[in-house]
Amino acid sequence: MKTVITIDGPSGAGKGTISQLLAKELGWDFLDSGAIYRLCGLACTNAGIDFTDVAAVTDIAKQLDIKFSITDAGLKTYLAGEEVTAKLRTEQAGTAASHVASIPAVREELLQRQRDFAHGDAGGLIADGRDMGTVVFKNAACKFYLTATAEERANRRYNQLKLAGENVNLAAILQDIKDRDDRDMNRAVAPLKPADDAITIDSTDMSIETVFKSLLGIISDNNLA
Ligand code: C5P
Repeated sequence: MKTVITIDGPSGAGKGTISQLLAKELGWDFLDSGAIYRLCGLACTNAGIDFTDVAAVTDIAKQLDIKFSITDAGLKTYLAGEEVTAKLRTEQAGTAASHVASIPAVREELLQRQRDFAHGDAGGLIADGRDMGTVVFKNAACKFYLTATAEERANRRYNQLKLAGENVNLAAILQDIKDRDDRDMNRAVAPLKPADDAITIDSTDMSIETVFKSLLGIISDNNLA
């Protein structure tokens, strides 16, 4: 198994950006586990399946035909052969993901696919998600819990969407983040929480650059890369 470093935390804490920067810097692989749940949610929407239909959603998870490819432009994702990278990043896809992710049988179906990312002896894996350190990679070499206040996370998301030319409402984004936190932290299976042995970093008043350097410092102090 590869050396695994996990980065868990709530939506909008900067996990995705930091994980990709670290994977690039170290020349390691990257697991975006949220994308797997987003793909499952999207497949359900495409098939017209209601998220409350547990058996049908679980069936979709079992048959999920997905592919990831790392390019210079970032991670590209495919569902049943179709590129869905942009579709996957919408708020709608995130909300769909958090609905399907609250179903225990769906999590069970998707567990092995996530663990497969750590197969192999050479190099390492940066695993980004909600339960990477608590469930999927309990024996990870190093675990981080990256967080920030809901208000700061909403502000970051607002600025990102505005830059992309979208018509956005800060209050609605904040409410969406709080709802998602509530679903992710209070679900029965694999709720979002720091692993007992995780290092918690609150990025509220930190730049991406500072967070990146801080994590990289801890990784190198521990001789992990
Ligand atoms: O990280 P991202 O925002 O893409 O995740 C979307 C949703 O997928 C989360 O809000 C969460 O409900 C779910 N998820 C999860 N476990 C993970 C990763 C994501 O439950 N390891």
